[in-house]
Amino acid sequence: MKISLTKKEFSQISTDALILITNGKDSYFALDEPFILKIVNDFKKDVKRKKIKKELIVSLPPKYKIKYLILYAVDFIKDFPLLEIIKTIASSIYSLCEGMNLSKVAFLVNKDVDGICPAISEGLMLGSYSFQKYKKEKDLFKDKLKVEIIAPSKDFSKEKRVVENTLIITEVINECRDLINEPGSIHTPEYLAKKAKNVGVENHLKVTVLNEKDLKKKGYNGLLAVGKGSANPPRLIVIEYKPKKLSKHHICLVGKGLTFDSGGICLKPQQDMWRMKGDMSGGAAVIYTMAIIGKRKPAVRVTGIIPATENTIDANAQKPGDIIKAKNGKFIHVINTDAEGRLILTDGFAKASEVKATHIIDVATLTGAVIGALGNNITGIFGNDKELVNYIIKCGEKTGENYWELPLFAEYKELLKSNVADIDNIGSSPYAGAITAALFLQEFIPEKTKWAHLDIAGTFMRSKPYKYYREGAVGVSIKTLIEVIMNFPKDIMIKK
Ligand code: BES
Ligand code: MN
Ligand code: ZN
Repeated sequence: MKISLTKKEFSQISTDALILITNGKDSYFALDEPFILKIVNDFKKDVKRKKIKKELIVSLPPKYKIKYLILYAVDFIKDFPLLEIIKTIASSIYSLCEGMNLSKVAFLVNKDVDGICPAISEGLMLGSYSFQKYKKEKDLFKDKLKVEIIAPSKDFSKEKRVVENTLIITEVINECRDLINEPGSIHTPEYLAKKAKNVGVENHLKVTVLNEKDLKKKGYNGLLAVGKGSANPPRLIVIEYKPKKLSKHHICLVGKGLTFDSGGICLKPQQDMWRMKGDMSGGAAVIYTMAIIGKRKPAVRVTGIIPATENTIDANAQKPGDIIKAKNGKFIHVINTDAEGRLILTDGFAKASEVKATHIIDVATLTGAVIGALGNNITGIFGNDKELVNYIIKCGEKTGENYWELPLFAEYKELLKSNVADIDNIGSSPYAGAITAALFLQEFIPEKTKWAHLDIAGTFMRSKPYKYYREGAVGVSIKTLIEVIMNFPKDIMIKK
């Protein structure tokens, strides 16, 4: 799909379909043609009277260089962000265009909606994505469609830049979705490392990969323990971005790169186990966030750290009751081999400590419990710094990703007490599993480091279409992380 922003008079528009999204009250740039205006105004009245629910398609007389006029009504859903509605509509319009087999369409944008041009672009880009690699008949329509967004001449160049950024981000998010959607037998730790290296070459970032031997030498025992039963050995991937001007802050993004989580000897039930190919979604989000960072070059230093391994079974697999020594010296009693994400994250945090992170943000498909607490549309967020947590939540609101803070409630540390080591890897209660997991992580966060933990177990993959996402991987949290980093630390210093 080719999306471009143009400045045009109505008479200059030549397209298969001209598309307008209306809430029944709005006015449009470039719309000064009386015949068309009448159709639009009648449609708006009908929308207001609730005579029309969704769309109206009008065939225009041959004197116009426009074949169809497509009018789309915005449903006002109270408390639902308008731009999210626009993105969702844009993705439905994409399907409509596909159904009508149009090759060239133009959007006429609403004068009163700030951010509508990037929202339409995002809805089209994310909404048209599906995993194609293993389809004999590929979706060729996506490559064919040309979209023009007719934008205001006021602030045109600024608007164009914003849309271009949106296109860069959404394209990278779709690449990330491709990686997550691959089978676990394909996207092995080494495969992730290769992808990270490609990202590094393409975006001028330094990428270092520690292999099994390096990990053994340096005592990254979380990765080694979880990877013990696997034919595809673990890797620790580090992607570095350094701004030209020395930066006071250093953000480390740590992503769980569990390339397939069978549960290990504490084997998961077979139902839906296949979805655990997506247990590397946090790691993938970090790799591709780094790709965008390489392109956008923010002022703050950022390092992406991805502990990557499988959690499978064989004669060498780690056993319940094993005790491992983490990089920070603490001994962990592995009661449940399925609570493996937190084990490999300790190595990620140790790396972050080595490179002297001032801030750590980890992204992990960590617990089923967070799905119980927040469902599939909200990512759970925890942290030791209110300001950082609130800033991330705010950035999520801006980009249309939902976060809700859960407490690092100190009383529950009790549940992680171990009889034989410093800490157990699961809580002794069946409840509050997302919290005990986060409390476990906190024990491995270097002192004085600001930290936020995003538990994306509920949000990393859709089993049914949701908003502008189809089934499958979402690439969740990339949009938010980019927003967090591009304005860091300028925005975080502003107290609300
Ligand atoms: N990767 C899973 C968590 C998960 C569950 C992600 C569902 C996405 C969807 C994680 O490694 C895990 O197995 N967690 C266990 C922890 C338990 C053994 C304490 C869980 O949540 O069941
Ligand atoms: Mn697990
Ligand atoms: Zn897992």
